[in-house]
This record gives sequence, C-alpha cells and structure tokens, in this order.
Amino acid sequence: MAENILDRFKEVTKETVIDTSRKVRVGIIGTGWIAEAHMNSYLKQPDVEVVAGADLVEGKAEAFFAGYDVDVKCYRSHREMLDDESLQLDAVSICTYNRTHAECAIYALNKGISVLIEKPMCVTLEEAIEIRKAEKASGKVVSIGFQPRFDENMKMIKKIVESGVLGKIYYIQTGGGRRRGIPTPFGTTFIEDRTAGIGALGDIGCYSLDMVLNAIGYPKPLTVSGYKSNFFGTRPDYCDYAAKGKPEYAQKFQVDDFAAAFVRLEGDIILDFRIAWAMNMDTPGDTIILGTEAGLRIPSTECWNGSVGGAMKLYHEVCGQQTETEIPIIKTKEDPFDLKVRSFLDAVKNGTEAPVPTSQIIYNQAILDGIFKSAEAGREIEIQIPEC
Ligand SMILES: NC(=O)c1ccc[n+]([C@@H]2O[C@H](COP(=O)([O-])OP(=O)(O)OC[C@H]3O[C@@H](n4cnc5c(N)ncnc54)[C@H](O)[C@@H]3O)[C@@H](O)[C@H]2O)c1
Repeated sequence: MAENILDRFKEVTKETVIDTSRKVRVGIIGTGWIAEAHMNSYLKQPDVEVVAGADLVEGKAEAFFAGYDVDVKCYRSHREMLDDESLQLDAVSICTYNRTHAECAIYALNKGISVLIEKPMCVTLEEAIEIRKAEKASGKVVSIGFQPRFDENMKMIKKIVESGVLGKIYYIQTGGGRRRGIPTPFGTTFIEDRTAGIGALGDIGCYSLDMVLNAIGYPKPLTVSGYKSNFFGTRPDYCDYAAKGKPEYAQKFQVDDFAAAFVRLEGDIILDFRIAWAMNMDTPGDTIILGTEAGLRIPSTECWNGSVGGAMKLYHEVCGQQTETEIPIIKTKEDPFDLKVRSFLDAVKNGTEAPVPTSQIIYNQAILDGIFKSAEAGREIEIQIPEC
C-alpha cells in the first residue's frame, strides 16, 4: 500500500512519456543467445509488442523470430532497423556482442529511442562517456542489463550495508571464478577482440563489481593497479575446445581469461578484485565486506555468474561477544531477468530514472577500462572520468 502511494509521487525525470493507451513498441538488435531471454521476457508483458529485429548475419533474425508466434519485421543491421520510422519504436534491447553496444545505443538514442543495453555497458570508458552524452541529449532511458541486482539476496546485501550494521566500510574483496568456463556456446564472439573486446572482465567481472558497488552506493573509482592474462584460452588443448573438436578457437582467443586488480575508491575504500574464466583453483574466494562494526561474507558460486552462492554470514559483536549471524538464502519469486526487463519498460512508460542507470555503471566501466589499461601499461594508473 505504502509503495503505491510513493509510486504516484515518483519524479518524472525524462523528457517524454509515451502514450500509455497503446502497447510499447520494441525492437531487438542482435538475435543471438541472450536475445532469446529478452524475447521470452517481452512475451510475458501484456503491454508490449516486439515489432522488429535485426542481425548482421543474413537470415539469422528471420530464423530467430520464426520460433515465435509474432509478426516482426527483420533487418540486416541496427541502422536499417532504426532508420525505418514506420516502426515507431519506443525502445530497443541491445543484444549484440560487446563491441557494438555503444554504436547501437548511440544510434538509437539519436533517433529518440530508449535502450536496454546488455552487460557489460560497452568495452571502453570512452564509449561509456559517448553513451552518457547521447542519453542526456535525447532525454530517453538507458538501462544496463544487470539482472542479478533484482535477486532478493542481492537486495539484502544493499539493505545490510544501508542499515549501518557494518559501520564504516574500508575494505572489499570481490570477484569470482570458474575452474574451466570460457563461454563459446555458439561460436567465438565472446573470445575475439573484434566482437568482445574484453573477456572475463566484461563477461563476469562487471557482475562482481556491481554486486558490491551497488550495495555501497557506487563511490567514484580513483586509481587502479590491474593485471590480466590469457594462459587458458590460447591453448589448443583447452578442455572445452577439445570437447567441441575446435582446437582452432585457441588462435581466435584475443581477450583476458583472468584479471586481478587493486582499486582505490572515494571514501577511503579499497577494492581487491579478481575474476577468472579459467584457473587451476575452484574459486578465487568469497566476496567479503569489512566494516568497523561488522564484516559480511557472501559465498561465491562454483561457476561464477554474479549471484549469491549460499547463506551469507555477518561477523559482529554482541555485548562484547564475538558472534556470527547467518542470513539464509531468500527464494526470489519472480525471475530477476523478467524484473530487469519490466523495470526498464516502466521507466520508458513513466519517464522515470532507469533502474540500472549509466550514472552508476559508468564507474563499473571505468574500473574495467582502468584494469585493462593499467595491465597494458604494467603500472598503477589514475582513473579519470570527465563530467558527462
Ligand atoms: N545478462 C545475461 O545474463 C547475459 C548472458 C549472456 C550474454 N550476455 C551479453 O549479451 C551480449 C550478446 O551475447 P550473446 O551471447 O547473445 O552473443 P551472440 O554472439 O550469440 O549474439 C550477438 C548477435 O549480435 C549480432 N550483431 C552484432 N552487431 C550487430 C549490429 N550492429 N546489428 C545487428 N546485429 C548485430 C551478431 O551478428 C550476433 O548474432 C553480450 O554483450 C553478452 O555479454 C548477457
């Protein structure tokens, strides 16, 4: 009840609110693996119609939509689709590989169309800045596809931090890893520079960063000392390539499969980060948040996907006694992916702030970019984010 009353007073922050007497008209750019999850979520929404789709590969969009009972116009590129004004698109899902996120988002925003960009936001900080500028100039909604945020256990991390029970937070260890888990589900778009640009960093590193940065209010990153390597993806005998009979994937592997960093954040907070698509270890460790009054341990998952891997534990004192309080796993009723899509649509319809805003994710991208650049330079670097 209280929530409904508050909703009525939600600030309308975007320039335009769409005509809510008709369905929201949506297009999907890139009809690969993740597009299916977007399509399935849109089909569950009563106030949405998917009217268009585009893919660079000839016939791919047509084949994708043939599996659904929908009337969708197909195009060979994002430009072709977005140039077709007869579609009257309100929003698009950008489900392309990382390298084309920025190009597609900026083109859509310049046409006055809101965008839901799959994670990572893009590849470089420079691209993220250009997306922010296009977003501001258009007054449209840009949200980034971090569905783990909508999981109740993730929300609990934020609630714990915001309750103040941890005291002043000064150190965070985060990241995750897979013993063997380089994603090559339908080919090599995750491992080639031309398509992915960044590897484990962009695929799962961004999730680890969002888990903790969202909880502590996304402080600005200041400096980073980063490292990256590619010892596994470049081996022709890597287990997954061997299983698929594709040793040639090793030649195509041009991104990171491991990265680590030491990041200084505003507010005198240290972030100790590591991420792996492959390593000779089961996990690089749980996420821990150390505060002056308590510490929080967030168990990792075996195959890191950005979620809470088990009951969290709070280490604190009660009347001078060292105590541990377990926070059991909460079952999330609704699929977090559906919630990420729904919350984006609500922002588009109501003209309100994006649920996963670029004002935050630009810091996530700045850290990924900083790790990459610091690793290339072989030294600590300052993270400089111009006003945008
Ligand atoms: N949120 C999640 O859980 C999740 C899971 C998997 C992937 N992803 C993200 O989704 C994105 C796509 O991943 P995927 O596995 O679907 O990749 P994919 O390679 O299977 O599909 C990408 C498709 O985009 C098309 N494409 C690229 N540029 C285009 C353009 N300019 N216009 C039209 N089509 C274009 C490609 O031809 C390809 O078919 C990646 O950024 C990835 O990180 C998110």
